[in-house]
Amino acid sequence: MATQESGRRGTGTSPGRRAVLGAAVLGAGTAVVGAPGVARADERHGHGGHGGGGYRDLPVPTVVAHRGTSGYRPEHTLGSYQLALDMGAHVIEQDVVPTKDGHLVCRHENDITGTTDVAAHPEFAGRKTTKSVDGVSLTGWFTEDFTLAELKTLRAKERIPGTRQRNTLYDGRWDIPTLEEVFRWAEKQGRERGRRVWLHIETKHPTYFRKLGLGLEEPLAKLLRRYNRHRRNSPTFLQSFEPSSIQRLRKLVDAPGVVLLSTAASRPWDFVEAGDPRTVADLIKPEGLKWIASYAKGIGPTLDLVIPKGPDGKLLEPTTLVRDAHAEGLVLHPYTMRNENTFLPADFKKGTDPNAYGDAFGAFKAYFATGIDGIFSDNPDTALLAAADFNDD
Ligand code: G3P
Ligand code: CA
Repeated sequence: MATQESGRRGTGTSPGRRAVLGAAVLGAGTAVVGAPGVARADERHGHGGHGGGGYRDLPVPTVVAHRGTSGYRPEHTLGSYQLALDMGAHVIEQDVVPTKDGHLVCRHENDITGTTDVAAHPEFAGRKTTKSVDGVSLTGWFTEDFTLAELKTLRAKERIPGTRQRNTLYDGRWDIPTLEEVFRWAEKQGRERGRRVWLHIETKHPTYFRKLGLGLEEPLAKLLRRYNRHRRNSPTFLQSFEPSSIQRLRKLVDAPGVVLLSTAASRPWDFVEAGDPRTVADLIKPEGLKWIASYAKGIGPTLDLVIPKGPDGKLLEPTTLVRDAHAEGLVLHPYTMRNENTFLPADFKKGTDPNAYGDAFGAFKAYFATGIDGIFSDNPDTALLAAADFNDD
């Protein structure tokens, strides 16, 4: 596992250009900042980077470490985030949900059954329950039923041990981080590295939590202000599958918003609750993208919305989404690239073991060729090498 871009190919980049990049991309990963072969957003797409350290000045393709380095460590732990930063990831992702007493913690789901040792705590056995979250019935333990002090007695563990057995080595090593702890960690790391640490923060189930009296956006905005991450050029993206969450945040802070887009047939849960009939298929049409661009700076579509797969699981021709989104001035950060065969398009699987690595570099190359601005990946080291290869080609 590389922690530097040690295997990078030849540069194709002049020393002068490298110097410019090194100064301009302050705030991106050290292993890549000023590195040969990495272009800024404005250089690749003509977006017009401002040189002020905002998102337009990030390297392109921007590597977003999905839940940290979830390919190598239990997700959403400080260990997972630290490794991502050490690898040189440009941006590190947090998903946030609330506790019973209103603290924001980093978990992909409010159901913590699969990513913590809660089931092994007899004192919490009575908290196991069944709930409907965004129309899906779930049985387990939920963050909103625990105070922060109670959650802090739990330990994080690997979500998919069958696929990522090596990650189970770290089960129990880290607790559930609060978002504030991540901000403090990022501040400290930033001071030590002489640059800002970029984060990509997702509000999870915002309508569901608001109905419980646990609205996410106000405490998030408060924290963003406290840690100076609320400005237009702050090193922070704010993302959600629910457009109304991004709209609400837009009224509270100036950090760039990104609307996540699931499958074409799906409807954002806030649309379902509000009786808005639009689906994701509507949102990726030019008029839908124009509407998103009225309050957000980017979209985070599934990779399938960028390059669909055929019935055989192989990639088809790219859609027009990249072109259409760029026409509205939106950046695209699709999700999620993972190295294992089980997650890769059929064209890039190798051998028959679903848990073995396939040709991830081939898949990255295909996705980068569409002109996307960034990508969420569980394997940021692979993504960084693929990005450098792409910019060298
Ligand atoms: O936020 C981008 C990507 O992480 C969305 O998918 O389900 O992993 O949060 P999910
Ligand atoms: Ca996410």
